[in-house]
Amino acid sequence: MARFGVLTGGGDCPGLNAVIRGIVRKGINQYGHEFVGFRYGWAGVLKNEAIELTNQTTRGILHRGGTILGSSRTNPYKVDGGLDQVRAAIADRNLDGLIPIGGEDTLGVARKLVDEGINVIGVPKTIDNDLNGTDFTFGFQTAVQIATDAIDRLHTTAESHNRVIIVEVMGRHAGWIAAYSGIAGGADVILVPERPFDIDEVCSLIKRRHESGSTFSIIVVAEGATPKDGDIVSEFGGQTDAFGHVRLGGIAVALEKGIEERTGYESRMTILGHVQRGGTPVAYDRVLGTRFGVEAIDAATDGDWGKMVALRGTDIVRVPLDEALAEPKLLDTKLYETARTFFG
Ligand code: F6P
Repeated sequence: MARFGVLTGGGDCPGLNAVIRGIVRKGINQYGHEFVGFRYGWAGVLKNEAIELTNQTTRGILHRGGTILGSSRTNPYKVDGGLDQVRAAIADRNLDGLIPIGGEDTLGVARKLVDEGINVIGVPKTIDNDLNGTDFTFGFQTAVQIATDAIDRLHTTAESHNRVIIVEVMGRHAGWIAAYSGIAGGADVILVPERPFDIDEVCSLIKRRHESGSTFSIIVVAEGATPKDGDIVSEFGGQTDAFGHVRLGGIAVALEKGIEERTGYESRMTILGHVQRGGTPVAYDRVLGTRFGVEAIDAATDGDWGKMVALRGTDIVRVPLDEALAEPKLLDTKLYETARTFFG
């Protein structure tokens, strides 16, 4: 029997509750472990604010979006004495290890804690699917489905009004959501962070399409896509979070204006934003989250510290946190080439 602390950090993500339930259910029923869940990510560890996680408190949460623990973008390394506070919470709660569930930032903190001798097993979470070491993160498929449904609906207005509609989806470093939802939704152009774009080329594609008989177009753009000759576009004036990330959102506004001016086609934009992270997880994400949770508690029970659970092909494996965090996992070139086949 051992005691572990679980936390969810960064943006919320469909499937987080499935992971928590997987960890706790297997940990209690198979190994007789005990769990606390820290509130609001690393913020709860710093404040030593936690709840007991039991079979009772994790019942009925599998299908629920968000996280029963709450989340935040708190960075303990940006807080004076943060590391001491983390150590104090672990000692006070008599914990044998931590299981943080998060993306590059939350797991980046976990990685540093490993060097401090703290026992950690990471679980990869992000709708952006940009964490290395794992083929998919949970939450991604739900976000893609939400974005695809939105593109389907926006087709109606685009077609009825002969408009160009620009749909902005999430994707800070990588265009996975844009590429998947764009392919699934039949987008006429897809713009991703990995390929800086030229607005004149975008307009040529749209014009070619309209000149060959189409009366409307759909452009899907990832929030992190940048113009070839410019910087990242954000409506939030360079606001950054505790990990130094600029608050994104608004590239679609610039595209709407630029495309209408250059082509004369009436253009409208829609920014999907947090809708993509909200609501119930699709079945795929519930299953992947459950499998990650179960593997994470197996790894913690084995004392296989410094690892992140991951999906490789159809198998759940453990990879070093280092490997997962070295670089973001960028869009597969072949996938983007497939998407390009349908441009214009
Ligand atoms: O989880 C990553 C992400 O979805 C990014 O694509 C996006 O930039 C960010 O979250 C926005 O999150 P928030 O508005 O909660 O800070």
